[in-house]
Amino acid sequence: MRRKIVAGNWKMNTTPAEGAELLKGVAALKSTIPADVELIVGVPFTHICCVKDAAAAAGIAVSAQNCADHESGAYTGEVSAKMIASLGAKYVILGHSERREYYGETSQTLNKKMALAYEQGLAPIYCVGEKLDEREAGKHFDVVRRQIEEVVFHLTPEQFGKMVIAYEPVWAIGTGKTATAEQAQEIHAFIRKVLAEKFGAAAADQTPILYGGSCKPGNAAEIFSKTDVDGGLIGGASLVAADFIAIAKAF
Ligand code: 13P
Repeated sequence: MRRKIVAGNWKMNTTPAEGAELLKGVAALKSTIPADVELIVGVPFTHICCVKDAAAAAGIAVSAQNCADHESGAYTGEVSAKMIASLGAKYVILGHSERREYYGETSQTLNKKMALAYEQGLAPIYCVGEKLDEREAGKHFDVVRRQIEEVVFHLTPEQFGKMVIAYEPVWAIGTGKTATAEQAQEIHAFIRKVLAEKFGAAAADQTPILYGGSCKPGNAAEIFSKTDVDGGLIGGASLVAADFIAIAKAF
């Protein structure tokens, strides 16, 4: 049995105080979701301290949304993997399409971040996904394969065993236009096949692959019902505790 995970990506939303309230709301409802569903909240750096105790008490894991590509030193404005891990975060989202697009993150940058994250014991939630024009040109399989080969294939089997993958088609993020459950299943199965080429079928079979992109309480059940979809990486709907929890109940 693969792990089932529902992870929120709060992006650059909420003040720390509002984030603490949001976490409280999620924690209060956590007992209503199936016990085998793991909840993760991906919060801004500034919020980790404010949510970590309540999250730990409720059995909710905390994730950062990024980390620096250097260990420490004169990198004004950056936040290191060590800083994040020392606050008790367990995960770090890496390779989100917004980071790739707005901050020019390449596979080369991501490989450095991955290495530093693993050194600090953080488990990456690695995001892949194609843009609209790539999907329309039928290139989505090639794009996703490249994003995996250029980053994930550099990991050791032990590192790979800790990774979570999130497939997030860029055209579905924040657009209200979700991939169909069939589209999600098709590419999740493809991702698992690519992972199996490098790490073997057994390891690939254990890897949680989450779907992200306009996942809401109304469409989560259909998407999560697919064999190779192991949960979701949720943006907008993770900012409303009841919606986030409703998604976690959708398995
Ligand atoms: P939305 O759920 O708002 O479409 O965002 C998805 C996402 O980017 C999660 O990382």
